Amino acid sequence: MSETVQPKTASIPPPMAMLAELTHRCPLACPYCSNPLDLTKAAQELSTEEWARVFRQAAEMGVLHVHLSGGEPASRRDLVELTAAASACGLYTNLITSGIGLTRTRFDALVEAGLDHVQLSIQGVTAQKADTIAGYDGGHAHKLAVAGWIRETGIPLTINAVCHRRNIDDLDRLIDLSLALGARRLEVATVQVHGWAERNRGQLMPTEEQVRRTTETVNRARETLRGVLVIDYVPGDYFATYPKPCMGGWGRIGLNVDPSGTVLPCHAAQTIPALTFENVRDKSLEEIWYRGAAFNAFRGTEWMQEPCRSCERKAIDFGGCRCQAMAIAGDASATDPVCAKSPLRARVSQIADAAVAEPQGAPLIYRGRPARAAR
Ligand code: SF4
Ligand code: FES
Repeated sequence: MSETVQPKTASIPPPMAMLAELTHRCPLACPYCSNPLDLTKAAQELSTEEWARVFRQAAEMGVLHVHLSGGEPASRRDLVELTAAASACGLYTNLITSGIGLTRTRFDALVEAGLDHVQLSIQGVTAQKADTIAGYDGGHAHKLAVAGWIRETGIPLTINAVCHRRNIDDLDRLIDLSLALGARRLEVATVQVHGWAERNRGQLMPTEEQVRRTTETVNRARETLRGVLVIDYVPGDYFATYPKPCMGGWGRIGLNVDPSGTVLPCHAAQTIPALTFENVRDKSLEEIWYRGAAFNAFRGTEWMQEPCRSCERKAIDFGGCRCQAMAIAGDASATDPVCAKSPLRARVSQIADAAVAEPQGAPLIYRGRPARAAR
């Protein structure tokens, strides 16, 4: 892999979406937290004015959607101002939130500021289970209240649910809950066991049988709920034949800006030690997207090794996930080891088999909280 690839900028389309990680602060303590292990401190976060400049640059270069995310974005006191700034640039604003930190007054101010859409995370279908998984008592009840405000204001709602060994069998009830809350879309993402989640791998990794049943449930519900509820499903890839096109292809559709302004091709890109990342405090978003070495390292298909290089699927899955290749193969330019064509596929199966064989019911290791026994 080389960081000196010269980009042909004319052939690179602008990003469609930007994930604005406003903060890493979060009141929840999920055992599968996807924030990096090394969190950005509040004092290092971009200011309101700096984010507003980033939103203007994003809109000028052709970004259509901004996802206001975290951590928990409501932990930013200036969330209403940030939403107004993004909306004023003509960006479609999507708030990705746990709901914790929102009040009715604050939510109404967000709507007034131009908020277009909300993705509300749900950790389980009962308060006891959801609050145990999130490590936050009372969280589920508050989320249900927030969903009610969203419904009343007519803002479109998507329910986000990370599914894992302890809640994946509740999918039918999760679909019913999403309908009851007035959601138009449900995003079911199977847990990624990287970063913090590795500490809970044996408690979180769904079994192959669970993954198979979940796929069947999703397919059935998509048929029966056509026109009522859209279900996006990210299956667990440890049991798949081919990997998913992570990020829709590196540097192809979207970019992430972390709380300190570092611009990333994906949320886990900093786990690839050979890459260096640039910051909106030093360079424009446009400069970083088109000319940044990290973005060009795995853009397109030229960087690929065999078997990806000569594979008929290389423009479908883009060789899978670079961060997963780094984590398992120790080489970010390797074929995603989940792929059946990868020489490391057997190692992936061993990892999955060892994880699902672990005794169940062990306390979860929470992000920033003491462990709690399963309930
Ligand atoms: Fe995708 Fe590479 Fe596997 Fe082909 S060999 S299916 S391009 S990961
Ligand atoms: Fe980084 Fe998949 S998470 S490329």
